[in-house]
Amino acid sequence: MNCLVTRRLPSSVIARLEAECEVDLYTGAEAIPREELLARVAGKDALICLLTDRIDAGVLEAAGPRLKIVADVAVGYNNIDVAAARARGVEVTNTPDVLTNACADFTWALILAVTRRLGEGERVVRAGRWAGWGLDYMLGMELRGKQLGIVGVGRISQAVMDKAPAFGMSVAYHTRSPREIPGATPMGLDQLLATSDIVSLHCPMTPETHHLINQQALTKMKRSAYLINTSRGPVVDEAALVWALQQRLIAGAALDVYEEEPKVHPGLLELENALLIPHLASATTETRTAMADLAVSNVIAVLAGRPAVTPVP
Ligand code: GLV
Repeated sequence: MNCLVTRRLPSSVIARLEAECEVDLYTGAEAIPREELLARVAGKDALICLLTDRIDAGVLEAAGPRLKIVADVAVGYNNIDVAAARARGVEVTNTPDVLTNACADFTWALILAVTRRLGEGERVVRAGRWAGWGLDYMLGMELRGKQLGIVGVGRISQAVMDKAPAFGMSVAYHTRSPREIPGATPMGLDQLLATSDIVSLHCPMTPETHHLINQQALTKMKRSAYLINTSRGPVVDEAALVWALQQRLIAGAALDVYEEEPKVHPGLLELENALLIPHLASATTETRTAMADLAVSNVIAVLAGRPAVTPVP
């Protein structure tokens, strides 16, 4: 058995995989180039990939009939054509649960950073532009007594909601499939946008959620509200967001994800009220190691003829 791994993983995790099968590890610092992916996946039994790799019918075709599993080292698996994989009998797995805590903590980091203008403050200090303490200098928004509006309910957003009482926030949520969440209020998207002080996006990237937050949605938000996106970039129409931030139709936005990563809309780069982070939500040593480990567990299970540990739904 052999497995292509498209990015360096922690050595302890690779060692565990090497004990079970032959490993072809791409060691480049950036995403494996498409041509190289197509060439190296040929004849493999398993593929461990990252969200920066587009695994479509072309890649599956190039892999050939031995391929049994595509294990994504990510919870969001919109980079994989799951239907095409299933049509070929290829299992697809992702890495849920192990990153929930890191991503929920990080969402709060973004909420706190954008409402307290930490990016802006740091830029001022580093540029030597700080003229001294001022009573009305760089004021932000307090969280206590405000409403957190969650779009998309899953493990991560529930962990985000769990921490809301610590900041004195009430919680509203919008989800496609109706469900009860104790202590939180379900709302239609329009009502959630119109009443929330923080709107935090947690939905998967699907054709239905593409540009869910567009010009129309942004105009429904409070002028004092902040948008947080840790889901996937294309859930937000970046051009519309630039416009809304420029017009001060919302107070600010904190983004961890972008429509065309690693490109960022040039308009965002000009805006002081945009906090821009390079897709780091799950980026702790503990969590990234656990994600890689889970992907390897999935491969080992499937190659041994056992069910995958975390197949995608
Ligand atoms: C990161 O964005 C992930 O889906 O794991």
